[in-house]
Amino acid sequence: MNIGIILAAGEGTRMRSKKAKVLHSICGRPMIDYVIHASRLSGIQKNVVIVGHGKDEVMKAVNMKDVLFEEQPIHQGAPYGTGFAVMQGLDHITDEDLVLVLCADTPLITETTLKRLLEYHRESNNVATVLTTDLMDPKGYGRIIRKENDDLLKIVEHKDANAWELEVKEINSGIYCFKGKSLKESLSKIGNDNVQNEYYLTDVISVLNEDGFKVGAFKIQDDTEIYGINSRVQLAFAQRVMSRRINEFHMENGVTLIDPESVIIEKGVKIGRDTIIYPGAILEGDTIIGEDCIIRGNTRIVDSQISDGVEIESTLVESSTVGDYCHIGPYAHLRPNSILGRNIKIGNFVEVKNATLDDNTKASHLSYIGDAQVGKSVNIGCGVVFVNYNGQSKSKSIVEDNAFVGSNSNLVAPVTIKEWGYIAAGSTITDDVGEGDLSIARARQVNKAGWVEKKGFKKHK
Ligand code: UD1
Ligand code: CA
Repeated sequence: MNIGIILAAGEGTRMRSKKAKVLHSICGRPMIDYVIHASRLSGIQKNVVIVGHGKDEVMKAVNMKDVLFEEQPIHQGAPYGTGFAVMQGLDHITDEDLVLVLCADTPLITETTLKRLLEYHRESNNVATVLTTDLMDPKGYGRIIRKENDDLLKIVEHKDANAWELEVKEINSGIYCFKGKSLKESLSKIGNDNVQNEYYLTDVISVLNEDGFKVGAFKIQDDTEIYGINSRVQLAFAQRVMSRRINEFHMENGVTLIDPESVIIEKGVKIGRDTIIYPGAILEGDTIIGEDCIIRGNTRIVDSQISDGVEIESTLVESSTVGDYCHIGPYAHLRPNSILGRNIKIGNFVEVKNATLDDNTKASHLSYIGDAQVGKSVNIGCGVVFVNYNGQSKSKSIVEDNAFVGSNSNLVAPVTIKEWGYIAAGSTITDDVGEGDLSIARARQVNKAGWVEKKGFKKHK
């Protein structure tokens, strides 16, 4: 079997955070998710995550069926280091297994690179293969020391390196393949006699060499893949790289991004062909956008389904569904459970919440539509308020097909406006309106001739 050991027990001090480092998110997902995902896609059948600092949080957040956890003790004086961390996972490994060791704080690694590493490892008959790259500035990383025949001799940690070793540009990514038996045997022979008094996983390389085994290094060109996240600055860099990858994926699938650098699309969002996205859009969570849509301005769409040919401008959409050819915004807000049919217009400063609107209905300006069921081809005038809350509980309003709700009206729920019902502007509706009836619910206008003159107001001007 192919087993993945993912190291995630470290403290992550440099993040200066209350939250476990590996749970900080990149494009909407905790960084550890990317590592687990890449590991799975590269052909690893069972992933074991080694947890320590923030373990409860991490275990709760990961919560995937095929992921197992092992705890590394982290109390004062407990042994520490990457070697000690891997030891915690050894019970899951048999001699014949192939083991891939990964770090949860290296989220930019791709499945393609992992597959190439695994393939190289198998073909070269190594008992261990280390993934490496050349860095202009290798400071902080373990240095790769090769033999004359290019096989790997040892890895020297930066803090333990001599002047000659510090000159080496090829570094250890922290990602390795092992034959199960060799990993177990060599780990039992490492100590912690080094500058940091840690059990270094890297020390197994020299142990295996001393025991006469063949150990190799597989070097890749793209150094961003092995970029480790230790600080918020590095987190921002990873966000940039990941965001660019996601945006390029969508552009290759036929989506136009007018200025890709200023659009944030979270991992897992789906977008149809010929949709055009303007700068400033943020698409989050479980969102699906159809074909031929246009999304403009500072629009944020969270966990929502948008069908084809929809235009949205400068709007917030949360957990809602929007049918074909709707026009939304500018400055509208679809709050959770807004369900719009086809060809609906939700205009400037309109808020919708927990409401179903059927095809061809319009609310063009300044309305609140909450807890409502609105039929087809209804006109909701400017400034209409669905009065859904009496301070204690919410009630529902029903507006049937072809009804007309005049501007600046209040519908005090629970209330029903039947088909073709017609509400005069400025009405406060507290009783149901019958089919085809006109309802006027406001004080009648009184005109008092010459009143201003009589009061003597006019001469003051
Ligand atoms: C390690 C490597 C170094 C390599 C670098 C690449 C060793 C000794 N050094 O150094 O050669 O260039 O990664 O990024 O392996 N962890 C645990 N338990 C521990 C200690 C660490 O789970 O007791 C985890 C951390 O959470 C992290 C990973 O192991 O995910 C790497 O640990 P870190 O302390 O960051 O190692 P580096 O010093 O970066
Ligand atoms: Ca690190």
